[in-house]
This record gives sequence, C-alpha cells and structure tokens, in this order.
Amino acid sequence: MSKFAFVIGGTGMLEGVCHWLSNEGYDVHVVHRDIDKFESMRSRGKHPDKLHSISVDYHDDHALQLSFRKVIKQYGKCPDLIVSWIHNSAPNALPIILKEVGPRKHPWKLIHVQGSSSFFVKENTTVPESCEYRRVYLGFSLEKERSRWLSHDEIANGVIKVIKQDFKETVIGTLKPWSKRLS
Ligand SMILES: NC(=O)c1ccc[n+]([C@@H]2O[C@H](COP(=O)([O-])OP(=O)(O)OC[C@H]3O[C@@H](n4cnc5c(N)ncnc54)[C@H](OP(=O)(O)O)[C@@H]3O)[C@@H](O)[C@H]2O)c1
Repeated sequence: MSKFAFVIGGTGMLEGVCHWLSNEGYDVHVVHRDIDKFESMRSRGKHPDKLHSISVDYHDDHALQLSFRKVIKQYGKCPDLIVSWIHNSAPNALPIILKEVGPRKHPWKLIHVQGSSSFFVKENTTVPESCEYRRVYLGFSLEKERSRWLSHDEIANGVIKVIKQDFKETVIGTLKPWSKRLS
C-alpha cells in the first residue's frame, strides 16, 4: 500500500509541497474549496494521478470529519503525513482531523504551519501519542532593510526542508526585527 498524505491548503502556498510529495510516491489528498483551482494545480503536477481532491470547507466540522474518515478507511491505516495550513477562523478543524486519525500503532508526522503572530502565543496542540509533531512558523523576508512576505516557493521549499530534515520547530524567513513585519 502506498504512502499517503493530507495537505490542507495545498492549492495555495503549499502547492509545491503537494507536487514534491507526489514525486516522492505519496498519494496526496488535498483539502480545498475551489475545484477549478485544484484541477489547475493538479495539471501542473508530474503525477496528477497521485493528487486527490477533498473539496470541503474546513469550517464545516461534520463534512470535514466525514471526508477524512472516508479516506482513512479507504487505506485502512493512518496517514503517513499531514501538512496543515488552516486559518485561525477554524479552530475546530485540526482537532477534528486529529480525532479522526486517532491513536495509532505506527508513528506519523504532522507539519503544523502557522502564521508569524502564533510564534508568541506558542499554543499547545494536543496530538495523539503516535504523532510526531513539527511546527513551522511563516516569517517574512528582509532584504536591504525592506521586508516582504514570503513567496509560495519560499514557503513550499521551507516546508519540504522540514519534512526532509525532520526539524522540530522552524521559522521560514525571519521574525526579527518584529518591527519590520508587514501587517
Ligand atoms: N508569512 C508570510 O509570508 C505569509 C503568511 C500567510 C500568507 N501569506 C501570503 O498570503 C497569501 C494568502 O494567504 P492564504 O492564507 O489565503 O494562503 P494560500 O495558501 O494561498 O491559500 C489558502 C489555501 O487554503 C485553502 N482554504 C482556505 N480556506 C479554506 C476553507 N475554509 N476550507 C478549505 N480550504 C480552505 C485554499 O483553497 P480554496 O481557495 O480552494 O478554498 C488554499 O488551498 C498566500 O498565498 C501567501 O503568499 C504569506
């Protein structure tokens, strides 16, 4: 049975992560709402057959639960990896997903991507015992004293590096000096 992953937000800044995972042999289940955006990201992949749509609004607790349950049941095992970029407007989404995965025998990884303001909150994410939790903060880029947001490639490549090198906590870009952060 092939490795499988969920990427929440994989039609946006995490598109490069979806393509990299599919090149690495994962079946990638991509959570999004806009099916046209999904189809166009899929068409850019070398392995479109490995990219699967989960079209659901992650604010809809029940629909989210059912869609994860269906995919996990189909494989009969927990995902090897979840990469999560979820807006703060959906605080229930990640706990619902983690509950669906549940306690498992085999270790698996959660890459939790968060915005820069979360760095100072250090929220405690409760994960099942078998989950190896990795946290990624999105900072900003500073060039010649001028700051800018990170590009999609910088974000996706930063997340891929975390997966490959298994860093526990990472900032992509920088958070210093905080006064240079764009709001
Ligand atoms: N520190 C930084 O540099 C930083 C941090 C954050 C954002 N940004 C920039 O800001 C831009 C916009 O940010 P963004 O947060 O919109 O990220 P994004 O990654 O470009 O897009 C959001 C992703 O999440 C999905 N999504 C959003 N709401 C959803 C929902 N309710 N249910 C299911 N899926 C949902 C979207 O799919 P659908 O559209 O199909 O729903 C899409 O795949 C980014 O592209 C990035 O360039 C930069």
